[in-house]
This record gives sequence, C-alpha cells and structure tokens, in this order.
Amino acid sequence: MKKHKSHVSGTKDFIDINNVHRSFLEKAFALTDELKRHPRIPLLKDKSLAMIFAKTSTRTRVSFEVGMTQLGGHGIFIDARTSQIGKGETIADTARTLSRYCDGIMARIYDHKDMKELARHASVPVINGLTDLLHPCQAMADLYTIDEKLERLKGINLAYIGDAKNNVCHSLMQLSTKLGVNMKIGCPKEYAPKKGIYNLSMKNAKVTGSTIRLFTDPAKAAEDADVVYTDTWVSMGQEKESERRLKTLKPYQVNRKLMKHAKPFCLFMHCLPAYRGNEVTADVIDSPSSIVFDQAENRLHTQKAILSLLMNKQRALMALEHR
Ligand code: CP
Ligand code: NVA
Repeated sequence: MKKHKSHVSGTKDFIDINNVHRSFLEKAFALTDELKRHPRIPLLKDKSLAMIFAKTSTRTRVSFEVGMTQLGGHGIFIDARTSQIGKGETIADTARTLSRYCDGIMARIYDHKDMKELARHASVPVINGLTDLLHPCQAMADLYTIDEKLERLKGINLAYIGDAKNNVCHSLMQLSTKLGVNMKIGCPKEYAPKKGIYNLSMKNAKVTGSTIRLFTDPAKAAEDADVVYTDTWVSMGQEKESERRLKTLKPYQVNRKLMKHAKPFCLFMHCLPAYRGNEVTADVIDSPSSIVFDQAENRLHTQKAILSLLMNKQRALMALEHR
C-alpha cells in the first residue's frame, strides 16, 4: 500500500487553517510567487488528484484541474451524485480506494465532519475545497491577493460584511488572525461567526497582535477599512432559508454609501459567485476598486503551491531554494 510521506510541518492535509503551521503558510505564499512567475514548473509530473464535488463549482473545479495540468499532473473530476458516493458507499471506503489510485484528494462536500473522516481514512493528502464550515483555499487566495495589492498584511484592516456565519468568513478569520490582519465583521446577531471558530481565531490574534471586532452596524465595521469583503447571503445548501436570509441581511448590502465609510482607496473583494443587487451592488463590484477577478485568478496560483507542498514536498522545497 502506498505510504504518504509528504508531511509538511506535521500536516498531511489542508482542511482547516487552524491546524496548519505558520511555516507551511509562509512556504505556500513564497511558492505561489514562484509559480505565478513560472506557471509550468512540473512539480507534480504524472501525479493524479481526485476531485470530489457534492456541490456546484466554477472556480474551484477549474483552478484545481488547470493547476494540476500546469504542474505536469492530472485532475479527475468526480461528481458525487454520479459516483458510488451518491449511492451510499462510505466515505472511509471511498478514501481508501482513491488512495490506491491517486496522489491526493480534493473534496467539496457539505458536512465538515465528513471532510475529517475522508482525511482520516485517506493515506494521501486531502484538501478542503469547501465545506459548510470552512473554505481554506479561498482564504489563502484572498490574503495572498491583499498582500500583492497592498504590499503587506500586518495591520491591514479587513471589513467583512453580511453573512458571517459561513465558510468564507470563518476561514478568513482563521487566516487573518494567523497573519496579523485586523478584522471588523458587520453582521446581524443571527449570522455572527460560530463561537468555536471565533474563540480559536481570538487565540491566534493574541499571538500575532491582530484584532477581530463584531458590529451589528455595517457602517461601523466598514470604518477605516483597507478592504471590504462580502459573500452571498445564501450559501450552497441554504436555499430553503433564502427568503428569511435576504430579508435579515438586506441592511448589510455593500453599496457606494457603505464604501464611503472605508478608507478613500479601499479595495472590494468577493469570493464569487456574486449576486448583484443582494450582497453587493453592481456599481461596487464592477468599479475600479474591485479586485474580484485577481482574487479568483489567485485561487489557481495559491492552490498549485498547496498541492505541490502536500503531494511532492521535496520538489516543492527545491523549487523554493532555486529561486
Ligand atoms: N469561490 C469559489 O469557491 O467559487 P466556486 O464555487 O465557483 O468554486
Ligand atoms: N459561502 C458560499 C461560498 C461559495 C464559494 C457558499 O458556501 O455557497
């Protein structure tokens, strides 16, 4: 049986930023710089990545698949509904089987517990391509993009407005507090971040000196922001709650009036897909201060670094040394 050896700082998988060592994050960003300059370094020649999707996707699917191709390997799209997973094959058996064929597994599924189960039974690295709780690959691309645009992370003020009890906000909180970014979150009480995520992020914040503050008034959260960030009000799987969410979150729309509370050259970010007229107005997301497509592009570059460090650490570190 294939034994997985590419442990980086003790982490086999990339499923929760809180379990990822700071040195991995630093190496991942440095390797992203390198891969962005030289997109076709074959760090994963002949390697295969199984990509399980139980939810829809545009960016995650395409960026992982293209990323594997550019690295000299191959991504295999597996629709959970048309594979045996959809017929009830267990996660453990799926993990064990895929580990016999592939060098890594990326999955987008609903329950975060299932992601942990997948990682527990897989002998190859598992990458979280989004669960209901977390979206760590998104946060990596987001903070890489902020660093690229503003040339620093420490002390940057990031305002997250809207549904803060979601995967994107949770992972942003975890990574921001690990890298010294200050977050102000503007959300209704009902959609405040999960307590567990908040508490762990506060622990990180104590180490790096960053802050997280929660406001029910979106204008207060946007005050002095270098970056304003929002996400959909109805995440995948929450469609039945749509009416209530749209009503409760209406005062949290990111529009020009709200952006006036931020710094004059404040950037706008969104993980996409965006719903113009709900969480953001067209005049904000389509304005020159919006960097949403640079953000989307950086999913490709940052994920290639994560894939390489997990699936072929030795070659990845050599590429870093020979910069
Ligand atoms: N941001 C993001 O994960 O996009 P997709 O849902 O299109 O993959
Ligand atoms: N919060 C959103 C993110 C989509 C990339 C969702 O889960 O649908």
